[in-house]
Amino acid sequence: MSSENIHTIEKRLIPRKKKAEFLGHRGGVFWMCGLSGSGKSTLAISLEKSLLKEGINSIILDGDNLRAGLNKDLGFSMIERMENIRRVSEVAKIMVSNGMIVIVSLISPTIELRECARQIIGEEDFFEIFVRSSFEKCQKRDVKGLYEKSLKGEIKSFTGKDSQFEEPVNPWLIIDTEIATETDSMTKLLTEVLKKIR
Ligand code: ADX
Repeated sequence: MSSENIHTIEKRLIPRKKKAEFLGHRGGVFWMCGLSGSGKSTLAISLEKSLLKEGINSIILDGDNLRAGLNKDLGFSMIERMENIRRVSEVAKIMVSNGMIVIVSLISPTIELRECARQIIGEEDFFEIFVRSSFEKCQKRDVKGLYEKSLKGEIKSFTGKDSQFEEPVNPWLIIDTEIATETDSMTKLLTEVLKKIR
């Protein structure tokens, strides 16, 4: 599609610096990746609550939620996951350009997909968090019953089983939910996020 008749209005918008001054903190995209059931959504919700207690507003962009609306036309092939990540990254970029703290919770299973996110959002605003838990542990938890369904063959391209998950090589932060308690994981996450934005 040609963009020759598109005239964006960036230059007429309130500068990000002004919004950051108003909000009293820096914006950032805190991008959590990990297997289904690793604890991404739980951590995202706790982080949002803890930040609000500190007087800081944030927004959660969660895979399951987005797939019920904006991304409801997308399935789980690699091409569709890429489109999922691209759309979420573009939304996150708009938000962070407006000084917001964006908490993304998406499986985002491959290095290539997360590199795409990093490129759209920009190196200085992209903070990759690996929410680590083994496939076996996530399968044991099976909060949504999806692991059982996938074992019965009722779900195709299930991440970690018949669709790949590549661990991040050098993420900004690793939260190991298999080893650490929920409280310890949350304390670590909040401490690091606050250090970044204040
Ligand atoms: S991503 O791979 O494109 O980043 P996303 O985070 O949006 O995935 O969605 C993952 C959620 O969709 C899972 O937490 C799970 O609830 C649901 N889901 C349904 N089918 C699958 C599948 N085949 N693989 C992984 N997750 C699935």
